[in-house]
Amino acid sequence: MNIPDIIIAVDGYSSTGKSTFAKLVAQEFDFLYLDSGAMYRGVTLAGLEAGAIADGTIDEAALLPVMEPLQLHFRRVDGVNQLFLGDRSIEKEIRGWEVSQYVSPVSAIPEVRAWVDSRLHAFAESGRVIMDGRDIGTTVFPNAQLKVFMTADPAVRAQRRYDELQLKGEKTTLEEVQANLKDRDYRDSHRPTSPLRQAADAYVLDNTHMTLHEEVVWMLGLLQGKFGLLEAPGLSC
Ligand code: DC
Repeated sequence: MNIPDIIIAVDGYSSTGKSTFAKLVAQEFDFLYLDSGAMYRGVTLAGLEAGAIADGTIDEAALLPVMEPLQLHFRRVDGVNQLFLGDRSIEKEIRGWEVSQYVSPVSAIPEVRAWVDSRLHAFAESGRVIMDGRDIGTTVFPNAQLKVFMTADPAVRAQRRYDELQLKGEKTTLEEVQANLKDRDYRDSHRPTSPLRQAADAYVLDNTHMTLHEEVVWMLGLLQGKFGLLEAPGLSC
């Protein structure tokens, strides 16, 4: 199927499966996948390691000079994009519980958002990109040709996230995960700079009761409808 080189923005609440969905769409339709949340997580990890974030406090004045020279970039490892800090893969650390605790307030700092946005624009230069986050369709790429807004029942989201953390051996309870998601939803949608919002021209994907295959079929239908593509490729997922 001949899909033009477009930017696809995928936004939504935490743990709605945005990255899993976007990765699969990238694979099926040959797009570059970029995870904007990973960039905020990378800045948070660097802040923790430099001591600019500690004991429940974010020292903004100390964090910004740590962030400026950071060499954060994506590199393909075994066919999947991983976030690197210089030559070191930080993919595993940025998904941990400690980074998750601080990333939302870090991402609310306007200077952090401007720094991340400028890098996202550089990474997306090829133009054939699917990027997931909170403000991709509203702020980072308001002219993205296709926008998806993902949502799912909060209880289902918490359970998915909890299962993921359990698999990684992280010691948390379902109640803690529920509280963290609730807190992040609130912070992400109430911050003054680029709050999480559904773009007026976004298509809503509620995946509470959907399989991944059904999500990709939904996307295929959207692409066919939007770009008048009649021929459907065989999906491999
Ligand atoms: O998608 P994620 O959970 O990895 O994102 C981590 C945090 O980064 C999340 O709490 C909100 C923030 N974020 C953001 O503010 N804007 C984006 N475009 C992506 C993520």
